Amino acid sequence: MVTSWAQVNADIAGCAKCEISAGITNKVPGQGNPDARLMIIGEGPGAQEDRQGLAFVGAAGQLLTQMLQAIGLSREEVFISNIVKCRPPGNRAPTDEEANNCLPYLRAQTALIRPQAILLLGATALKYILGPELRITKARGQFVPSKGVYILPTFHPAALLRDPGKKRDAWEDLKQLRDKLSWLPEKEKKNNGMAT
Ligand code: URA
Repeated sequence: MVTSWAQVNADIAGCAKCEISAGITNKVPGQGNPDARLMIIGEGPGAQEDRQGLAFVGAAGQLLTQMLQAIGLSREEVFISNIVKCRPPGNRAPTDEEANNCLPYLRAQTALIRPQAILLLGATALKYILGPELRITKARGQFVPSKGVYILPTFHPAALLRDPGKKRDAWEDLKQLRDKLSWLPEKEKKNNGMAT
């Protein structure tokens, strides 16, 4: 069911389905252009994101900004979100229960934005969007068309910071994304005003 931004934002703000919601500073619903052609999905907030209530504002976020700039996109043009909206303690990956509790919010955001392409950052986004049987090392760089949306998995920027040897592959993935967006027709505008 397609909801409204006001509803999904209120639902996220009031959510206490998971125990981790009790230990956070801020929910991190995600931010950006409600009419984005490209949606970006990471894993979950880290310490900086929890402090500021914004997705991808720490070191990985800075690299993400550079990666987007390299293919001619600004953060303001895209919508950046995560599988979970609360920071799992110690930056652990979300549990299946946490991810499943939170996924309806991401689905609602996706339905409102109607992106033409989705970039999945890392193994957690891959697992919960395309399936637990997939491995990021194999699935990266290959578009999966789903309900008219082109979904592209790539490495998480935090993985690129840990292992710069992966940057070459990530750059190939980003060039594919740039080309796909350049071939797709411009999107019809629907949403007015900011999402968050
Ligand atoms: N890593 C993520 O997956 N998401 C963020 O918002 C920040 C770091």
